[in-house]
Amino acid sequence: MSSDEIDLERVLCRVAELEATGCREFRLGGGDWPLKGFIVRAGGEVRAYINRCPHQSLSLNLMPDRFLSADNSVIVCSMHGAIFEKATGLCVAGPCAGRALAIVSVVVVAGLVMLAEGVDAAALIRRFAG
Ligand code: FES
Repeated sequence: MSSDEIDLERVLCRVAELEATGCREFRLGGGDWPLKGFIVRAGGEVRAYINRCPHQSLSLNLMPDRFLSADNSVIVCSMHGAIFEKATGLCVAGPCAGRALAIVSVVVVAGLVMLAEGVDAAALIRRFAG
């Protein structure tokens, strides 16, 4: 895919925007209640998750773009401390251990993190917005 062919509506962020905190929030859809998600570096790859904790369906972060532990090794829910693997979204400790964040398939193209081909953005918004 060349940069001329990129559908900008499917771009979630630039890879470079992950440098500061290792993760980055994104929104899909408009209005007051868009879908809220976040992208995280996991080794040499990136993952995207819906920003909704499986414990009580709350947003995981209190501060913008802050989802990780102090050593950046895991995702931490700010509400009650659930800990999730960055690569899988699986909760490995806390009140929702064994459950997982909802993953959004993404690809990196020309330095951009984009919804993967076949991901129905409208369906995602219908399911997770709010
Ligand atoms: S809402 Fe995330 S641990 Fe309770």
